Amino acid sequence: MTVSDKSALFIGPQGEQGEVFSALWSHLLKVTMQRRAQRFENDPEWQPISVETHNSGHEAVQSALEQLLGLLREEIPTFSPRYLGHMVSDVSIPALLGHMAMLFENANLASREAAVVGSALETEAINLLANMVGLDPKPARGHFTSGGTLANFEAVWRARYRLDHWLALGVWLKLNQHSDAPLFEWAHCGWPVYREQMKRHGLSEPDLVPYSSVVMGALAMSRFAREHFDEEWPEPVLLVPGNKHYSWPKAANIFGLGREAVWSCDLDDRGRLSPLSLKGQIDRAKVEGRPIMMVVSVAGTTELGMIDPVDKVADLLDDFRENRGLHIWHHIDAAYGGYFCSALDGEACVLSEASESALRAFPRASSITLDPHKLGFVPYACGAFLVPDANAYLVSNIHAPYLEEVVNAEFPSWSTTLEGSRAATGPSAVWLSAKIMPLDSSGHGGFLNTSLQITRAFYEAVSSVSPDIRMLDSSDTNVLCFAVAAEGDALSEANRKTDAVIADFRKSPELSATRTGLTIEHYGELVKSTVARWGGLLDTDQLTVVRMVIMNPYLDNDAIVQKIQTQLEGSIRYALEQ
Ligand SMILES: Cc1ncc(COP(=O)(O)O)c(C=O)c1O
Repeated sequence: MTVSDKSALFIGPQGEQGEVFSALWSHLLKVTMQRRAQRFENDPEWQPISVETHNSGHEAVQSALEQLLGLLREEIPTFSPRYLGHMVSDVSIPALLGHMAMLFENANLASREAAVVGSALETEAINLLANMVGLDPKPARGHFTSGGTLANFEAVWRARYRLDHWLALGVWLKLNQHSDAPLFEWAHCGWPVYREQMKRHGLSEPDLVPYSSVVMGALAMSRFAREHFDEEWPEPVLLVPGNKHYSWPKAANIFGLGREAVWSCDLDDRGRLSPLSLKGQIDRAKVEGRPIMMVVSVAGTTELGMIDPVDKVADLLDDFRENRGLHIWHHIDAAYGGYFCSALDGEACVLSEASESALRAFPRASSITLDPHKLGFVPYACGAFLVPDANAYLVSNIHAPYLEEVVNAEFPSWSTTLEGSRAATGPSAVWLSAKIMPLDSSGHGGFLNTSLQITRAFYEAVSSVSPDIRMLDSSDTNVLCFAVAAEGDALSEANRKTDAVIADFRKSPELSATRTGLTIEHYGELVKSTVARWGGLLDTDQLTVVRMVIMNPYLDNDAIVQKIQTQLEGSIRYALEQ
């Protein structure tokens, strides 16, 4: 199937492909019911207790269902091309069918005892995603999560495991006078050095347990360090860009790192991570003796859709590893932008050179977050966590006597994932969707390329409404942001006008966009250079912008785009005249 042959891909904003979908849906139901009937076909048939209660039961279900369907009339129409709000849009037909087919099985990926087919599909779907982002599926590992937040937590869990092992070894070596190197150095020593030292001193993992802050707790280790080394326990830090998603402060909170342990790196004037600032923070961590649990870069930032220079971050960390012996975990939060990797192999790829280089650097990361429930057009809840090699997948062993022991680490399960019960609907949806829309430029990638082109058309249309529309650079992906300001407007006045446009949008159900505030603390360069364009005064601490995510699949149609652009222009013009 080609991208242009989209009739079987999406239902349509008005159910235009409803018949095609109904036929597929009826077939799915028929086969599902047949499967039930045939599985244990010699068993006695179940009959409801009495025909009367049976019928009244059905009526009750019908009536409750009507009520629910009525309520859903008011749900946010995320399927519609008029919805340009958050990172969500309509889901594809194959993804929906894959999801629904598995839903009837209610398979639980916690264990292969509860999902034998689901587990196999999970491995296949993870391989498809790994291949899409350039990883070799053979050594790669990963699993599905309920979303990007959980995938980010999975990365912290594993980075912490690794750091804790290396640090615990350092403590043992110092305690036994085998080393006088700072603990910071041991916390980044790398597996080869770790294994060599363990072997040299005849150590096994249980020997290090008394020095593990994960097992003993940071407080106990803090006391221990003061007693034995006359130094503070080296509390780890997370180095994140100022454009980070709020899941990162959440992770620090959940993993007990504390707010102070989240060190922010500056952004450039486009809102992308500055490698120079990152280097400064790594040097600072070294001076302060604060081990770096991980460095995060973002591919597809939540607010602006920008792609951090992942390749430059990888170069920097390679340099620290090769020239200073410091192994630092690099996580790519590609919850939004990871699917753009599917566009890389085609000649028609319209990503910028910088974005291409960043996306091609994925195999150099320690771990990656992807969200099929965003640009994969897969139903919620479907995120994915990937690592390029099994070493980075290691976590502490958790024992549950009533569940199958993991004999084959290739299958993720209850003991290797943060979440226990996990739906198999995500893998099934990704798997079926990739059969129809391959995860390369012949399928999904071509589709996303179109989305980038449409975003550019929107950019032109919106910016042409008035000279007071101040577009932000949105060249990396398909998120558009703009502020409203006349020449010389102070920032607070510009924010007031931008808020008026948003308030007008919100009054009408015709179009949905969102608003965000870019703080000078995190987006200093971008805010200053944007406000300088209209010669304004920086009299407040953030820049308010209207934000639109141009990912809806129905925007590939000229008539629809025209209609929405006209509406957008009218709405902005009206708000500006108020
Ligand atoms: C960059 C980034 N990371 C992580 C997340 C969290 O994903 P989820 O909402 O699926 O938990 C998001 C969500 O928008 C995101 O944009």
